[in-house]
Amino acid sequence: MTVLVTGGAGFIGSNFIFFMLGRYPGYRIICLDKLTYAGNFTTLESIKDDPAFRFVKLDICDREGVYGLFEEEKPDIVVNFAAESHVDRSIEDPEIFLRTNIIGTTVLMDACRKYGITRYHQVSTDEVYGDLPLDRPDMFFTEDTPLHASSPYSSSKAGADLLVMAYHRTYGLPVTISRCSNNYGPCQFPEKLIPLMIVNCMNNRPLPVYGEGKNVRDWLYVEDHCKAIDLIVHKGRVGEVYNVGGHNEMANIDIVKLICRELGKSDELITYVADRKGHDLRYAIDPSKIHGELGWLPETAFADGIKKTVRWYLDNRTWWEDILSGEYRERYDRVYVHR
Ligand code: NAD
Ligand code: DAU
Repeated sequence: MTVLVTGGAGFIGSNFIFFMLGRYPGYRIICLDKLTYAGNFTTLESIKDDPAFRFVKLDICDREGVYGLFEEEKPDIVVNFAAESHVDRSIEDPEIFLRTNIIGTTVLMDACRKYGITRYHQVSTDEVYGDLPLDRPDMFFTEDTPLHASSPYSSSKAGADLLVMAYHRTYGLPVTISRCSNNYGPCQFPEKLIPLMIVNCMNNRPLPVYGEGKNVRDWLYVEDHCKAIDLIVHKGRVGEVYNVGGHNEMANIDIVKLICRELGKSDELITYVADRKGHDLRYAIDPSKIHGELGWLPETAFADGIKKTVRWYLDNRTWWEDILSGEYRERYDRVYVHR
């Protein structure tokens, strides 16, 4: 079985590759990644010589390059993590989000149609549903919640989801979609809430909380997301959407205070800053479908997951210091190109 993982040098994709190599020793895993600012080859360096693994530096929008790779590798399964993924960046500059998240998805699915695959899986997000009120804890996103995206990022992901379902209906492409809540864990780029706060806290720098810090996110340890995708790809029903989330809602300010406590720092580092434009209030997933059909349940409790995550950033200082200094950008060239 050959699995093509796009965006595998990013946060969730890299965790997924390590998970799959451990779980399926007979599988061949191909990672296709453009290595944008968010893609870090250092994360995958330990497996670069593993015969079961191949890394290809490529843009999912590069039709000729993508077709060439499909011709060569004939993947059975494609799992598309490749995306521009940061809401704040999408507010600054939406266009690249439309290109990668929508056009790129289309190019990948065209390649799947042309060369044939058994499954195309789109890694989507709960943000396509928009947000929920803070004062209605009884409300959750189900797979039937209408798409109502708020930001350029989530709109581009919603557009891609519509195209995935259109390719299923129009061309019979065997697709599945997962819509997961906020992930946290090792190897997350330090621009997202949890790693940014850990790194700033370790450096005694201000912790910028948007607005009043009351917005709520539903946090899931990244390995639990990887396990959900594995189940969906192997056992999920074609043409279906599966929501993934662990009923772990927390206000941003509580997360930041918890990180301060974990690192033995005072709350004085917390700085309230201007709110994000159009800031979604609350996300909360109803995971009954994936639980009922595939038996998935999250395995890592937040109290344990956040300790493991803080520990990882303490133990892997070079990983994020190289990111902050820009050093990681040249890593791939040094390891693969100029050696
Ligand atoms: P990330 O930003 O850490 O990684 C994205 C990866 O995609 C990077 O390695 C980057 O180099 C690569 N990439 C970007 N543009 C590309 C292109 N044109 N061609 C090839 N590769 C390209 O993102 P992440 O947090 O790991 O998210 C992965 C996927 O999961 C995304 O599709 C995101 O929408 C979705 N998702 C993320 C979360 C979360 O909490 N992080 C939750 C639910 C869903
Ligand atoms: O819900 C899934 C989504 O979760 C994914 O689809 C996205 O790719 C991922 O980036 C994430 O989106 P969010 O916008 O929820 O994540 P972010 O880490 O950017 O922000 C989490 C919350 O913390 C949000 O309410 C904004 C707030 N925040 C964020 C940053 C970076 C702050 O208060 N301060 C910050 O510095």
